[in-house]
Amino acid sequence: MSYAQVYQQWQQDPESFWLSAADGIDWVTQPRKALDASRAPFYEWFTDARVNTCWNAVDRHVAAGRGNQAAIIHDSPVTGTKRVITYFELQERVARLAGALKARGVTKGDRVIIYMPMVPEALEAMLATARLGAIHSVVFGGFAAAELAVRIDDCTPKAIIAGSCGIEPTRTVHYKPLLDAAIDMASHKPDFCVIFQRDQEVAKLIAGRDHDWHAFQADAVPADCVAVEGNHPAYILYTSGTTGAPKGVVRPTAGHLVALNWTMKAIYDCAPGDVFWAASDVGWVVGHSYICYGPLIAGCTTIVYEGKPVGTPDAGAFWRVIHEHKVKSFFTAPTALRAIKRDDADGAIAASYDRPSLKALFLAGERADPDTIEWAQRHLKVPVIDHWWQTETGYAIAANPLGIEALPVKIGSPSVPMPGYDVHVLDEGGHPLSSGALGAIAIRLPLPPGTLPTLWNAEDRFHKSYLSHFPGYYETGDAGYLDEDGYLYIMARTDDVINVAGHRLSTGAMEEVLAGHRDVAECAVIGVADALKGQSPLGFLCLNKGAGRDHADVVAECVALVRDKIGPVADFKRAVVVERLPKTRSGKILRGTMVKIADGHSWKMPATIDDPGSLDEITAALKTIGLAGG
Ligand code: COA
Ligand code: AMP
Repeated sequence: MSYAQVYQQWQQDPESFWLSAADGIDWVTQPRKALDASRAPFYEWFTDARVNTCWNAVDRHVAAGRGNQAAIIHDSPVTGTKRVITYFELQERVARLAGALKARGVTKGDRVIIYMPMVPEALEAMLATARLGAIHSVVFGGFAAAELAVRIDDCTPKAIIAGSCGIEPTRTVHYKPLLDAAIDMASHKPDFCVIFQRDQEVAKLIAGRDHDWHAFQADAVPADCVAVEGNHPAYILYTSGTTGAPKGVVRPTAGHLVALNWTMKAIYDCAPGDVFWAASDVGWVVGHSYICYGPLIAGCTTIVYEGKPVGTPDAGAFWRVIHEHKVKSFFTAPTALRAIKRDDADGAIAASYDRPSLKALFLAGERADPDTIEWAQRHLKVPVIDHWWQTETGYAIAANPLGIEALPVKIGSPSVPMPGYDVHVLDEGGHPLSSGALGAIAIRLPLPPGTLPTLWNAEDRFHKSYLSHFPGYYETGDAGYLDEDGYLYIMARTDDVINVAGHRLSTGAMEEVLAGHRDVAECAVIGVADALKGQSPLGFLCLNKGAGRDHADVVAECVALVRDKIGPVADFKRAVVVERLPKTRSGKILRGTMVKIADGHSWKMPATIDDPGSLDEITAALKTIGLAGG
């Protein structure tokens, strides 16, 4: 069947489409009904089913005779180690860890925070939690203690599973002191912590609260899989919104299983036994869907890579891993390719590795620029597939579905909507725009299985953030257009979210931190274009009258403050001091115009501006740091 036929099949009968996709999953109770619209516009899927995620990702492959196949390959250039875990070993390890958690009282519905580097134990912790029907929330290692504390208070975990440390090329990230500080800061306290001690750093444990990973489970009785309802939350993953408070995206169990299993074949063209690699981090949605769950649910081998695209040791690292582990389908962020391209412009390093196994390269997380796509096409000689998705959806909204039909690639477009997604481009009033016209991208409700049914503890915020602006639609927060062939183009965010090195960050959250500096009266943060990272945050600071401080000192303190409160991942390294911020007469900061000036694009004086001279000052300040044509 062609893509058009499959899409049409879904459009004509979504219920049958998803019930048939559900056949790819092992159920305790098979769903008889796909969509539950009884609380529209809050939709749920497969509510009458009972199922366990871990069974589908691990045990069923052992039962099917794939026990000796590699489930996880850990390739860690930063520690100089490699390790293979078979499905059989994974089952044994996960059941034992689940047994130990169960013995300490973790049960269905309890939350477990996981704060770990790129080690297989991170996946084992996720799977062990899922085995018990408990709900995990993985927190990315690049966040500061304060961010971890916010998540602890929001999801109130019974337990936290953490690594002792992470390894960045230039430094060791001391996870345990960050964890201790976060627990001190949070009002909620977990009952206990399990610490995976790494050879590179053995952390100090707090007696009575912390347990060593190995000792904790040494005598544990392996736990069986607990069946949960189809709409039971599999996990919560926090992501950036407009304000400093992160949004807890809830992932429903059954829809997650059905949809990811479907995508592994339809989009990535992978079958049991194939090697799939997503070079991301388990702390992000890509890591959840395509380092952990997707490949394992589909019976593939997944790669857990603890390294960087460059510098560990060089720009050939990705090609070595693909060559060595026979990767069939590879997924990374455009920023990683830009880093490689910078060090290997003529592709000589890429050419020194043969990669007969590699069939396609998938890109997502940020806009893929044509130069980068063309470089990859030229030097990898496989289809380079841009696809578009969000933490909220958990898998691609638009893609080129290689497992159904390889559509012509249009550079600059993540191709076409996937079945399940009825994508529209709307004007401010919510009216559909014709092809070629730029507008807000919205998806007609209901969203397909596996996408967020709500935000954790925040149904009103879910409604306000996503459903209220365009009734009957889910608002993606992205702007773009559809061309006459139905290909989608994603151009920008419509909110205060920026994308730095494929990481989604909130400028609002950074502004909240900067406003907390004692000398800062007012501030704004914008994302300016960055050749490597796509965007880079830049702060504007108005100081209190009479602060009398050296500007460079305040800027340095503000940079340190954001690193301390949000974390190194915010990559907040630049700020300028200005007398006043450009605003509309109603007091709205003109961030969009500031971005245009910083990026050296043409711009028009906004009709609503209060004080036109304020933009001259912004331009002058930007020139001092080499922006705005300076
Ligand atoms: N734990 C702790 N700190 C982390 C971290 C982690 N897991 N990941 C990144 N950081 C830190 C980095 O050490 C860096 O700190 P520094 O300011 O002390 O140097 C900071 O966060 C910013 O990191 P990063 O954005 O990764 O920048 P970089 O300059 O170290 O590397 C790239 C640049 C392009 C190589 C890198 O950004 C990259 O590989 N990007 C791909 C991102 C990706 O896969 N995203 C997933 C979406 S699909
Ligand atoms: P995240 O939730 O971290 O996955 O970030 C989702 C956001 O990243 C989207 O809303 C887009 O703004 C951006 N994004 C993801 N994939 C793409 C893509 N292929 N092209 C353009 N932007 C993308």
